[in-house]
Amino acid sequence: MLKNDRLDQWDRDHFMHPSTHLAQHARGESPNRIVTGAEGVFITDRDGNRFLDGFAGLYCVNIGYGRQEVAEAIAKQARELAYYHAYVGHGTEASITLAQMVMDRAPKGMSKVYFGLGGSDANETNVKLVWYYNNILGRPGKKKIIARDRGYHGSGLMSGSLTGLHLFHRKFDLPFPQVLHTTAPYYYRRENIDQSEAEFTAQCVADLEALIAREGADTIAAFIGEPVLGTGGIVPPPAGYWAAIQEVLARHDILLIADEVVTGFGRLGSMFGSDHLGMTPDIITIAKGLTSAYAPLSGSIIGEKVWKVLEQGTDEFGAIGHGWTYSAHPIGAAAGVANLKLVDSLGLVANAAETGRYLREAMADAVGGHANVGEVRGEGMLCAVELVEDKAGRGFYDPAGKVAGAVVAAMAKRGVIARAMPQGDILGFAPPLCLTPAEADQIVAATAGALKDVLG
Ligand SMILES: Cc1ncc(COP(=O)(O)O)c(C=O)c1O
Repeated sequence: MLKNDRLDQWDRDHFMHPSTHLAQHARGESPNRIVTGAEGVFITDRDGNRFLDGFAGLYCVNIGYGRQEVAEAIAKQARELAYYHAYVGHGTEASITLAQMVMDRAPKGMSKVYFGLGGSDANETNVKLVWYYNNILGRPGKKKIIARDRGYHGSGLMSGSLTGLHLFHRKFDLPFPQVLHTTAPYYYRRENIDQSEAEFTAQCVADLEALIAREGADTIAAFIGEPVLGTGGIVPPPAGYWAAIQEVLARHDILLIADEVVTGFGRLGSMFGSDHLGMTPDIITIAKGLTSAYAPLSGSIIGEKVWKVLEQGTDEFGAIGHGWTYSAHPIGAAAGVANLKLVDSLGLVANAAETGRYLREAMADAVGGHANVGEVRGEGMLCAVELVEDKAGRGFYDPAGKVAGAVVAAMAKRGVIARAMPQGDILGFAPPLCLTPAEADQIVAATAGALKDVLG
């Protein structure tokens, strides 16, 4: 417990929180939770409440909390070499070792990794590299990026533009005009309820083809997508989606960026979502699971085809003008090395597949029959429960978001944290990959109980 009884006031007075109703928070109308410690899959707050963290922070603490191996690696790095930059060929043992470890795990065809700080800046890097690539190839008009409705790629200027959720655009003058959005591969929310899954996949592909025809393939540089939609609702793609989309992209010479910020390093029950779903991207975004959020670090993994052109560019124009002071920060890199070793030694990729399946099946058994549960879905250690007002007619709540928020609040009273996903009434679960079946049972029991509390 914290002794400082002024923290609450300092928080309301001085701390601007991300993704928060600022006015309500400053006025003290919304609850705040001051987190003081964590161990395994549990966090504790300053009042001594203990919660099972069913969302691993923001689906990032994959190895669970309190791992001494990572803490020791960070402390050792800070003592021996807290910082050195990575510009003009500098490196550290930690950053070079992590690059090797990432590439040992990456899908086939990948060549190099550039390290940043978070998923948003990694996607900013990716767009710059794609633009540079087409300039070097003498195609200055081939610059637009296609993302999907409900995709999440961050909240910077370009990464926020790629994101396909209204909240991240509203009143920010986003998205930028170089970004186009196409149909979300979200079968449950298809417009035509009579469509089969195969017909819906064909429609996603036809919508993409129509967008490319309208804009002209010679204006489109890349397509970005998460292997499984995350923040947009935790939605695995319909069968055959990625194979069909990739066929279109290849035909039009459009690069594929797989945003694996959530899915990289085991969350789907495979090391990478690209391998899990048969994707062959040109660039892969990584963050979260790279360090399990013990320190901020992200990466852009660059495929051979793009890399060759980047080399050609620097032979023609000199050093690449891109980098942050904290690129490949040694403390982040040391955390990454220790984290990836633990992912292997604890068998977390296999556990994500096995316990993830157990969680989803137990969830479906416990709440799938509830009158307001439209769908229980997921992949690996990801699970979502979509709430509807009218199950038979698939009628969504209006306004959206309130019911899921109320259920999540009721779950917290029962000691479990879930996330009300930002668009729709969707309960999201993405626990640490070390979850046990008994802990999965606890999540399921709290969900069932909270649904009863709120919806009867
Ligand atoms: C798929 C995906 N890409 C990018 C991001 C942005 O990462 P960050 O919040 O570290 O900037 C996120 C964050 O949740 C994400 O889920």
